[in-house]
Amino acid sequence: MLTTRLRSAVRAASGTLSHIRAATLCPCEDAIPSTSDSAPVGSAEGFRLYSGTAPLFMRAGGRLDVSAVAAAIEDADGLASIRSEDLVVNRTTTPKPKPALSELLFGRIMTDHMLQAAWNVNTGWSAPSIDPLAPLQLHPAAQVLHYGIECFEGMKAYMGVDGRIRMFRPDKNMDRLARSAQRLNLPDFEKVEYLECIKELLRVERDWLPDKEGFSLYLRPTYIATTPTLGIAPPSAALLYTIISPVGPYFPTGVKPIKLFVDTRHARAWPGGVGDCKVGGNYASTIRPQVQAAALGCQQVLYVLDNGAEGDGIVGESGAMNVFFLWRRKDGKKELVTPPLDGMILPGVTRDTVLSLVRSWSEFEVAERPIRWREIEAAVAENRMLEMFGTGTAVIIQPISTLLKSDGTALTVPFDSAETSRWIDRKPGTTYGAQKEPTTSLAGRLMRTIMDVQYGHTDSPWSVPVS
Ligand SMILES: Cc1ncc(COP(=O)(O)O)c(C=O)c1O
Repeated sequence: MLTTRLRSAVRAASGTLSHIRAATLCPCEDAIPSTSDSAPVGSAEGFRLYSGTAPLFMRAGGRLDVSAVAAAIEDADGLASIRSEDLVVNRTTTPKPKPALSELLFGRIMTDHMLQAAWNVNTGWSAPSIDPLAPLQLHPAAQVLHYGIECFEGMKAYMGVDGRIRMFRPDKNMDRLARSAQRLNLPDFEKVEYLECIKELLRVERDWLPDKEGFSLYLRPTYIATTPTLGIAPPSAALLYTIISPVGPYFPTGVKPIKLFVDTRHARAWPGGVGDCKVGGNYASTIRPQVQAAALGCQQVLYVLDNGAEGDGIVGESGAMNVFFLWRRKDGKKELVTPPLDGMILPGVTRDTVLSLVRSWSEFEVAERPIRWREIEAAVAENRMLEMFGTGTAVIIQPISTLLKSDGTALTVPFDSAETSRWIDRKPGTTYGAQKEPTTSLAGRLMRTIMDVQYGHTDSPWSVPVS
């Protein structure tokens, strides 16, 4: 169907062009559209988007004209798409005073505006708008309130040393939001166009972004089903909105390692579930285990899926972090290992960043593979465990010192605080790229390297200037 094919082309086009694989996209010089789904379109030069055999759009330069595609979808099915050129900005007349930097506790304070676009099955998307931040008006029967049809993202913007607002790999967050939405049967949205609207929101809120390393704006794109029905059915109305919270450094007084409670009783994710999507429901059930872990002196939970092998489950992830272990294997080789993206792990942007960096350094083995709890126990007992850390947008890298089991036994790995601080405090911009300096604190080195990109100390395609 025309609309479906166009929509799938837009979906593909919103990712990296080298990933486009769609029967509807073909190189210009290719007179006959390929219909093989397995043939990559490949090069980033001019494409035509085909519907049937009629060329509809041509891209100039390296980018598909997504606006034109979106407009064609509208023409094709009469439903409006999200288009950044339709964005309306209604500025507040009563901006709030900016808080002192010391008051910036994570997620407590919101900026003055929000970005929103509503979808309706009969009309498609409303024109996106930036409006003064205000409570939502929802029907008490709205599906999101009853069946948790909601997904979200967490991403940050930074003030670069060059005075430009910068986002870190925002395309990855848009891709993940679109995947989460698909899993909940929320309607597709135009990722590139919506990201353009988010950038405009950042420009509107520029004064909220502290010009100080460690500080940032945390963006929360949120997507909810608003259909007023108690029926468990595909949404016929939805709202996609983004709010912003200014945040301070996660470690204002130096990096501290945390203690995780090893939870085999509660599962965060399971085969066939939604563990790989960022849906609100994944988090609701983690609050109670988190409270129980806190009562035992642990800051977070490490979920280990007890899959029948008594005391030897599969290591998953922490409440809101992916986990990594740097150890010496039994053959003496140093290896950084993390659980694979098997459907039960959230594909973290920081996880992917860490994997890309360490692979580019080529200093030790890197593996994404299932990790059994017994392997962790053995590595700690045999003094082969070198470092443990979690990764996530909020914290970047979170060292882990202790894993506490329900029987009260604890596995502890020494944390080299001085070496970690040395890396974090070193002159920015000196660590990106292949450095052969011995790594005694991988956590510290990764943190410095990633911050260098985020704050624009080193050039990288991962850092996307917004202003
Ligand atoms: C369950 C879970 N795992 C991992 C992460 C880390 O993902 P990211 O690096 O994209 O922030 C998060 C945070 O978003 C999370 O909620």
